Amino acid sequence: MEYKKIISERLSALTGLSNDAIEKLIEIPPKPEMGDFAFPCFQLARTLRKAPNLIAEELKNSIDKSGFERIETVGGYLNFFVDKANLAKSTLEKILSEKDSYGHSKIGAGKTVTIDFSSPNIAKPFHVGHLYSTAVGNALYRIFSSQGYKCVGINHLGDWGTQFGKLIEAYKRWVDEEALEKEPIKELLRIYVKFHEEAEKDPSLEDIARMHFKNLEDGKEEEVKLWQKIKDVSLMEFNKVYDMLKIKFDSYAGESFYNDKMDEVVKMLEEKGLLTESHGAQVVNLDEFNMPPCIIKKSDGATIYATRDLAAAIYRKRTYDFYKNIYVVGLEQTLHFKQVFTTLKLMGFDWADDCVHVGFGMVKFADKKLSTRKGDVIFLEDLLNEAIQRARELIEEKNASLENKDEVAKIVGIGAVVFTYLKNNRERDIVFSWNDILNFDGETGPYVQYSYARGKSILRKAEGYGANFDFEKLNSPEEVELVKLLASFNDAILSAIDKYEPSILTRYIIDVAKAFNKFYNMHPILSIEDEALRNARLALVEATTIVIKNGLSLIGIDVVERM
Ligand code: ARG
Repeated sequence: MEYKKIISERLSALTGLSNDAIEKLIEIPPKPEMGDFAFPCFQLARTLRKAPNLIAEELKNSIDKSGFERIETVGGYLNFFVDKANLAKSTLEKILSEKDSYGHSKIGAGKTVTIDFSSPNIAKPFHVGHLYSTAVGNALYRIFSSQGYKCVGINHLGDWGTQFGKLIEAYKRWVDEEALEKEPIKELLRIYVKFHEEAEKDPSLEDIARMHFKNLEDGKEEEVKLWQKIKDVSLMEFNKVYDMLKIKFDSYAGESFYNDKMDEVVKMLEEKGLLTESHGAQVVNLDEFNMPPCIIKKSDGATIYATRDLAAAIYRKRTYDFYKNIYVVGLEQTLHFKQVFTTLKLMGFDWADDCVHVGFGMVKFADKKLSTRKGDVIFLEDLLNEAIQRARELIEEKNASLENKDEVAKIVGIGAVVFTYLKNNRERDIVFSWNDILNFDGETGPYVQYSYARGKSILRKAEGYGANFDFEKLNSPEEVELVKLLASFNDAILSAIDKYEPSILTRYIIDVAKAFNKFYNMHPILSIEDEALRNARLALVEATTIVIKNGLSLIGIDVVERM
């Protein structure tokens, strides 16, 4: 039962406030004595010019109370006490009948959401920082899809820009084809670093690089061929990681895709009188918004990152007619997106307000910062492989007789890493530590996966259970707490959507696992005589496994039946 929804519908009919407005006001009281949900009447007091406690009293008298044990007023608050027996019955029946689709809805039907995520740069390492965008974007994709939105996952590859002129020259001079075959990105990185070293001694290299890029833009055969080759080998390497993570994109339209779509943008800007000259460059002045200008064309006439993003946004609106256009990109690009969105607005596109930058923090390993220039980066593929290997060792230690250890190690290892990226508010930095992420007792992926496997093991041992349930007996604080949590799965999903914040769901899953373990440690299940209670507890266990599995699946993590 989705209580928040029910409460807001009933209150909306009585007050004239919208469902949405009411849902936002509803609070979860800090103590169970104060009810399961509370509605503060202070805002209404202002519009109705009446004392909040009077409003609460009036609402209490006229509201439909079905589904609630009682409704009380305390000061300006209306406190709702859920009918516990009814809650357990309705919640567990719903979960067990809906199974894999429990938590899902159709509220987004007919709406398209474009999600630009991962978007690594060709020829550069696909490093641990990129997993932030990849994991958050993939989770948002799954979360939005679960509510009926049509999602379009876009990998806006960094496959254009002056650096390709440098790479082409470096390739011609120094590439080792054999190394390129084996470890493409490492080889491309090596020659890119070498280019910078050599260019310091011989600045004319920079001119040659500029010429190559000009030729590339003009579609000259040699440059295009080398660029394509560099792109192909890079993608092969990125795809290894995407396969490990089981991530797919609907579009790989990267920066180069907008090459022939930028003239139109420049023309539109000109026609609207938005372009001004600044130090030889063509810019959109954003003084009135307290922002530096958005550069459209550099003094040599070359377009840049921002120009391509303007073209991309317009293309996405035309192609997908999005309801929301999301960019999962690091917080260091906050200004860039503000400039792009503001420029779109100035161009007269009201849908600029539907463009959302979903930012995230940095990933730190001990105290090393991750950079591309030096070459001392941690490749994502290496990180994932190490996680798998460490998980393998742990499993060997904990459950030596397990059958499919390799498969389990993969799911647990990768899950542990992804979980870490989705666990905290995305604007926070991640400090990566192996001990923390693989700790079976901490707030980790393995902990949640283990709770699931434990539930499954109970159900296996039970060998099925009967259909006579005594749900009213699920009345201990641990059981009530767990049932209430399971009932609020959809609420957690909707607030993750509202804030573009997968961690809300991750934390919810952690809470479910914790509540489950508490319940399981305090209450016998298989050994009890009372059959109707035993069945009810087994139903609770099964419902918990369903919610954990569905929840993890929404953030892109698999479960294992045994571990
Ligand atoms: N390639 C960029 C980077 O690695 C991210 C691109 C994000 N997407 C966009 N439309 N700008 O920083």
